Amino acid sequence: MSLVLDRTAPTDAPILDVLAERWSTRVFDPESPIDESALRSALEAARWAPSGMNHQPWRMIVARRGSAAHQQVVDALMGFNQAWAPDAGALVVVLAETATAEGEARPWALYDAGQAAAHFTVQAHAEGLATHQMGGFVADDLHTAFDIDRRFQPVTVIAVGALGDVDAAEEGLRQRELAPRVRRSVEESLLVDD
Ligand SMILES: Cc1cc2nc3c(=O)[nH]c(=O)nc-3n(C[C@H](O)[C@H](O)[C@H](O)COP(=O)(O)O)c2cc1C
Repeated sequence: MSLVLDRTAPTDAPILDVLAERWSTRVFDPESPIDESALRSALEAARWAPSGMNHQPWRMIVARRGSAAHQQVVDALMGFNQAWAPDAGALVVVLAETATAEGEARPWALYDAGQAAAHFTVQAHAEGLATHQMGGFVADDLHTAFDIDRRFQPVTVIAVGALGDVDAAEEGLRQRELAPRVRRSVEESLLVDD
């Protein structure tokens, strides 16, 4: 399966197609239910992410559009995210287990949860799902809504679902979708390249 809109990154060196083609849409199809098989594979990919000491310090909340949980996650989103993200078939909250129940710190929890989220998005794209991660949410609202222990820190909310009709989207959204994809060069990221 492939997404219709081509947003392939103009890379300076060859990379895997799935990495070049993944991008963060803000136009989801508000009618399509989440593809359960594809979602399952994305969650499975997150499961197989590496982690420090194999602690797997991540947890997910899967909130399908139309569910009570979905409304709770939508309510926790900030600003403009509330305008487009609710259309996605599901919102997946990724949380990091920053400490064990016994109070032992999990120092790599945020890093590991991020890796799990990255695995999720890449697999989702390969399955034909669009994704968009969000840091714009109120963590306290998620803690309250789902009665989650404070040792679990919400890290990102991933909107995931079928790509919508970009041409039919409101002009502001459409422009964002079609804007060039940019990154600084590899060289600018290399503090040392001996
Ligand atoms: C941790 C994280 C938080 C983000 N937060 C938001 C957000 O709150 N709202 C939003 O519209 N995009 C958000 N984004 C999307 C980024 O803006 C986007 O990934 C970046 O511009 C690169 O675009 P691309 O994913 O299409 O390559 C976030 C991405 C990440 C990884």
